[in-house]
Amino acid sequence: MTNLRVTARAHTNIALVKYWGKADTDLIIPQNGSLSLTLDHFYTDTTVEFDSKLTTDQFILDGESKSPVKITNFLNIVRQKAGINSFAKVDSVNHVPSTAGLASSASAYAALAAAASKASGLNLSHKELSKLARRGSGSASRSIYGGFVEWIKGYNDDTSYAVPIEEDLDWKIGMIVAMVNSDKKKISSRTGMQTVVNTSPFYSAWVESIDDDLRNIKVAIKNRDFKTMGEIAESNAMRMHALNLSSSPHFNYFEPLSIEIMDTVEDIRTNEQIECYYTVDAGPNIKILCQQKDADDLLSKLRVRFPQIQFSFTKPGPGIKYLN
Ligand code: DP6
Repeated sequence: MTNLRVTARAHTNIALVKYWGKADTDLIIPQNGSLSLTLDHFYTDTTVEFDSKLTTDQFILDGESKSPVKITNFLNIVRQKAGINSFAKVDSVNHVPSTAGLASSASAYAALAAAASKASGLNLSHKELSKLARRGSGSASRSIYGGFVEWIKGYNDDTSYAVPIEEDLDWKIGMIVAMVNSDKKKISSRTGMQTVVNTSPFYSAWVESIDDDLRNIKVAIKNRDFKTMGEIAESNAMRMHALNLSSSPHFNYFEPLSIEIMDTVEDIRTNEQIECYYTVDAGPNIKILCQQKDADDLLSKLRVRFPQIQFSFTKPGPGIKYLN
């Protein structure tokens, strides 16, 4: 029998209501629901081929051979579902702007889930793919879909998956990514969020605040109310980072330039009447939510103030697709 060689593409996503904390660390069941926007500009292409002649899994990332340990853990789930035991060759390429460090576990595990499941002979629905991608990295559950996506937190493997809110967006919005530092993060999101769950005295207040954020942001999206959507996203991100500051040991992801860019976004919004809102994940880069009509203006203002920083604008992006 000839082996199936499957290539899948998945785009990364940025959460407007963040996932920050696990209820189950093995199955990756979150403590709170989240909502994201899939981006057009940043994606991962992954090719998987199971081959009975291989004696171990092989992993190539951007042309370089890497340790397959994490990939093997994930492929074991796929092998178990498919009832096969062959090892696989996994070849992954991250497409990000030249110097960017936005290589993300979201697009990586969504592409791997799609390619590996199909190459193993499984024919999974998007819902099943979302659950599978979640096992690799929580945020990957949302990268199965394009546009606005909600990850329903659920309470076990079967009930925790993402659903599309609006896939083909007719809303002319996007994000500017400010690349403050493309190095590896100081503290992984996995470690950071676990420290927070275990030690922040504010953690239960965070979880309680999420229902309102999710409800209100979905209404804002439906009504095309950019201001309310941006305000919720910005405030939700700052509450997530407040958890980090309040845990023990305390930590933060900001660099001096991250804070300067956040201040500048507020300044442009207040004094130059351009609607723009920031959000920040487990790293120093700043993502700025804006409308497409304002993107050029905003980019030139930011570039004048921060000539040393690389800014790139991206529109909303699509869900997973197979390239062969
Ligand atoms: C701040 O999905 O990378 O980006 O499930 O441990 O792999 P693991 O974490 P990951 O965490 C993402 C955290 C975040 C917020 C978000 O994307 O919702």
